[in-house]
Amino acid sequence: MHKNTWTAVAHPNIALVKYWGKRDERLNLPAVGSISITLDTLESRTQLRPSPELTTDQFMINGVPAPEAQQQRIQRFLDLFRAHTGKSQFFTVTSTNNFPTGAGLASSASGFAALAVAANAAFGNPFNLRELSVIARQGSGSAARSIFGGWVEMHRGNAPDGTDAFAEQLLPPEAWPLTVFVCVTSELPKTIGSTEGMNHTAATSPYYTAWINQQPADLAAMRRAIQQRDFEQVIDISEFSCLKMHGLMLSARPGLVYWNGVTVDIIHHVRALRRKGIPVFFTIDAGPQVKVICLPEVADSVEDSLKEIPGIQNIYRTGLGEGARLID
Ligand code: PMV
Repeated sequence: MHKNTWTAVAHPNIALVKYWGKRDERLNLPAVGSISITLDTLESRTQLRPSPELTTDQFMINGVPAPEAQQQRIQRFLDLFRAHTGKSQFFTVTSTNNFPTGAGLASSASGFAALAVAANAAFGNPFNLRELSVIARQGSGSAARSIFGGWVEMHRGNAPDGTDAFAEQLLPPEAWPLTVFVCVTSELPKTIGSTEGMNHTAATSPYYTAWINQQPADLAAMRRAIQQRDFEQVIDISEFSCLKMHGLMLSARPGLVYWNGVTVDIIHHVRALRRKGIPVFFTIDAGPQVKVICLPEVADSVEDSLKEIPGIQNIYRTGLGEGARLID
């Protein structure tokens, strides 16, 4: 039977050693490497259907046609496959997320990872997984990491063409499971997108060079902590990297403030839990949501206590999940 649709799923990922800054905007090359965990439960599901009558791609997100800027972003992304394979096929792309889109919950990471895997199948599998992470990166920097499951490192690379800026798995999800609570403190779309925020920070913050220079040490320490299953170290390095990134953002001119009051309340709450001996930490990306992360054995008590914080709109409980994959 001739196959006429390809569907892939991918999950968002959360960086523990953060990426902020680009070394090349056109190729979307990161100025620093990063280390993340891929989640389960939350997912993007993306279907590609070839449409012989189309001369452009059509992109539907959560059941409605996407705005023009997003249509173009998808078109440019699929152009990478058309250029590589010489096939001039256009597609109807239908993507749905089972969590809020564009609200700082990494929907672009899972969305582009799912699209990369579905498109790879539709174009006859021209790329292996590492190459696919290089492709996914060109859709969204963090999407490269969602190609893989579990604990993942994204390399900054040095090559001007970006071929060495790829992601790879450090540990599969079952090798060291965690529980992640995604605490939604606002469902409003984020005010300043990551590309604009990164460029603004690189251009104006006096701390930018220090941020870039220290990243290799954080990455090496995190790799070691993961290898040794040293959760105390994971806590220490993750909160350091998160707060350092937000300190960097605050030091731009004008400063970028992604947090709201509830974001700060959760930080204090998590630290109070730690003072009581519970191994738990927080991390925050370019938005006001807080991801609270712990070992599975303390997850129920962490969840009960998070529910006591006023102002949290929604809490998603997830574990670590698999990489992007075809589902049909
Ligand atoms: O993938 P982007 O371009 O949306 O950038 C992601 C940046 C952070 O989420 C703030 C940090 C990270 O490493 O995921």
